[in-house]
Amino acid sequence: MSVTTIHSQILAIHGGDPVRATYLPYGRQSVDEADIQAVVEVLRSDWLTTGPKVAEFEEAFAARVGAAHAVSFTSGTAALHAAAFASGLKVGDEAITTPITFAATANCVLYQGATPVFADVASDTLNIDPEQIASKISPRTRVVLPVDYAGHPADLSSIFEIAQKHGLVVIEDACHALGAEYEGKSIGGQADMTVFSFHPVKHITTGEGGMVTTNDPNYAEALRRFRNHGISSDARQRQSAGQWHYEMQFLGFNYRLPDFACALGLSQLRRLEWNLARRREIAGRYTQVFREMAGVIPPMVRDEANPAWHLYPIRLDLAKLTANRAEIFRALRSENIGVNVHYIPVHLHPYYRELFGYQGGEFPIAEDAYQRLISLPMFHSMCDQDVEDVIHAVEKVLAAFAR
Ligand SMILES: Cc1ncc(COP(=O)(O)O)c(C=O)c1O
Repeated sequence: MSVTTIHSQILAIHGGDPVRATYLPYGRQSVDEADIQAVVEVLRSDWLTTGPKVAEFEEAFAARVGAAHAVSFTSGTAALHAAAFASGLKVGDEAITTPITFAATANCVLYQGATPVFADVASDTLNIDPEQIASKISPRTRVVLPVDYAGHPADLSSIFEIAQKHGLVVIEDACHALGAEYEGKSIGGQADMTVFSFHPVKHITTGEGGMVTTNDPNYAEALRRFRNHGISSDARQRQSAGQWHYEMQFLGFNYRLPDFACALGLSQLRRLEWNLARRREIAGRYTQVFREMAGVIPPMVRDEANPAWHLYPIRLDLAKLTANRAEIFRALRSENIGVNVHYIPVHLHPYYRELFGYQGGEFPIAEDAYQRLISLPMFHSMCDQDVEDVIHAVEKVLAAFAR
């Protein structure tokens, strides 16, 4: 399409025809017949809650990410809570994390009565900046909680170095990063504990669900008990051992992922490689076009990283545009492109402002990025036409607002 044709197109927000007749969401699940059969099979069996599929899913997941143990939970949020508990985080302690994340990352620190301390992000990946972490360490720091934003691994080598020097536990929030690689190794077997989510917009889904992976058997044991009220055995173990006795050893929760959800996860896991390949293909096409387009900065990838592309967040080059992010966002939505924004920096939410007195201005790189970020549709079942529609809509809207 020539520049003049793009210019002559009337934006849908101004009464023109939208690029698409139907709405394209930013993310969505794909469930096939094999998934449905796997769930139905369990619904017809004896075990709806913790049964054989739980261990099967956990073992397959641990093997895929290269960890010794995997412990499933009812959500990524529950998995974060459990990891924060297992790390020993308690009242009076501090955990350092990033403001560019979903609130659940920092909330797990609050669940333990500890204090989340934010450190600003690096301007290329928008992942937590190790130098900023180092500047936030105090005698109370116990945990570092990096996030693999959008599926791009955090700067793990530097983070592990800092953690080792100061005796800190690293809980990696990899809710975006199933299948990502760092220095050629799969995410999930490198941090003390790594947390995943199986929400429907993620790489694989169990409806709601989450997982913690670890190489440490003590963490694995604490995680298993935490998800089961702090009790030392589960009902299935007691039944097979023919005994009734159990002990509650600490205050835990019921965070058990049901057997039919694990059957779905196991079935979905079989398609993970295809999902990742398709997401990488879509990201490749987007980046090829957006790196040449004025007004847009595509996400950057460091040499040591192979991202999993949960999100594809572009940043607007506002100096080259006559509109702000909100106007561009609304114009793209009118074209039926389901854009989103990830994330409102956590410290700017009213709850955090009130609790800690944040006023804005504390984390300039994160806050500047927030003014420019737009997540474009990214999910593995997008067809080539969907991808081209997104590109066309971005071209059309940015051309209309070019300076
Ligand atoms: C970075 C991050 N951490 C944690 C979570 C929480 O996961 P869940 O929705 O499974 O509770 C999410 C969910 O979207 C997330 O994006």
